[in-house]
Amino acid sequence: MKISYQEIHQQKNPILPEPLEFGKTSTDHLFLMDYYDKEWKNPRIVNYCDLHVRPGTKAIHYGQSAFEGAKAFKHEDGEIYTFRIDENAKRMNNSAKILMMPSIPKDFQIEAIHSLINVDRHWVPDSNKGSLYIRPFLFGSGSSLGVHPSNNYIYSIILKPSGSYFKEGFSPGKLLITNKFHRAAPGGTGAAKASENYAASLRPGELARKFGANQVLYLDVNNKFVEEAGAMNHYHVLKDGTIIIPEWTDTILKSITSKSVLELSKIHGFKARQEHIRINDFLEGIKSGEIIEAGGLGTAAVIAPIGKYFLLKDDIINEKTLDNILDDKIPKDELGQFYDEIIVGNGSIGSITKNIYQTYTNIQRGNIPAPNGWLMKVEKTFSK
Ligand code: PLP
Ligand code: COI
Repeated sequence: MKISYQEIHQQKNPILPEPLEFGKTSTDHLFLMDYYDKEWKNPRIVNYCDLHVRPGTKAIHYGQSAFEGAKAFKHEDGEIYTFRIDENAKRMNNSAKILMMPSIPKDFQIEAIHSLINVDRHWVPDSNKGSLYIRPFLFGSGSSLGVHPSNNYIYSIILKPSGSYFKEGFSPGKLLITNKFHRAAPGGTGAAKASENYAASLRPGELARKFGANQVLYLDVNNKFVEEAGAMNHYHVLKDGTIIIPEWTDTILKSITSKSVLELSKIHGFKARQEHIRINDFLEGIKSGEIIEAGGLGTAAVIAPIGKYFLLKDDIINEKTLDNILDDKIPKDELGQFYDEIIVGNGSIGSITKNIYQTYTNIQRGNIPAPNGWLMKVEKTFSK
């Protein structure tokens, strides 16, 4: 398929806000492609615009929608490179499969992403300021109200020059642990990057924020195993330096950051593995000093250290209390009655976390060699 370029006006010197926040600034263009009559058609790059959808759109009514999150970096030589973009394209197709949406050839997704970045290349921040966050998304755009897969779809890509995901930057965060909310259930859509999973995480996420935590550390539906940290995989570090990441299941998104850390451990000589982690063992491990560091792993958040967990006293919280907390009807200084605190190590960023953060971000920014195929240069040519 040939991508068409419509009304392209490249800004050579766009002004980026300072500091650059995550996901707030848009570039000048977006990519669009339609699916109907069982075929992808009309791939195009157009001026950034609103998308017009019908009131009956399946994605709105029944949540048939998925997205990806990837990054591109400007290296010292001025060239732009996407990071492990083939993995994002593969995962988009896995999400599409789980949500009964049509797949898009992996190489075409990469071509579309690179073509769009090329057009908006002047928006990519210098690497000391941030990166270009890439957000491809795919949704059912058909408008009949039967609960069936849509016949029509839209695939689009937007770009967001971005700084740190957490406004505090690389500093110890906090997670709320609760039995009350779950992100995903076995046999459901937890392993897809499905929009609906994020809707399910909004209320618990807001609750976490009321307690001063960044996100929720989700447990499995039986409240026995550690699963995910909001929009990140979770990790902890044992006293002997081993990084432990929860084994991926059908309720955990297979993080490209986790996969990369596991692969890098073999090259850069640190220890990392996956395990099913019992929440009780995890908490005991922190108390006994067997676990010395913890954090989250994700494209937007990179490697996000966690210094403290809040254990919600679930038995004393009913639906009414939850509403009161969410509606700010309980004064902030009285919220302490609802949780216990547990600090990891001495609550600051540990040396293993610092080390993987530095190795990882140096690879992304081209300061140390990347494993083969991880970085793909965005070529400057495009034909109108
Ligand atoms: N888990 C969830 C639920 C996420 O939204 C993300 C973010 O993409 C991740 C994990 C981390 O995945 P990745 O490292 O591929 O960005
Ligand atoms: C990412 O890390 O790319 C994500 O998708 C997280 C996002 C929901 C902000």
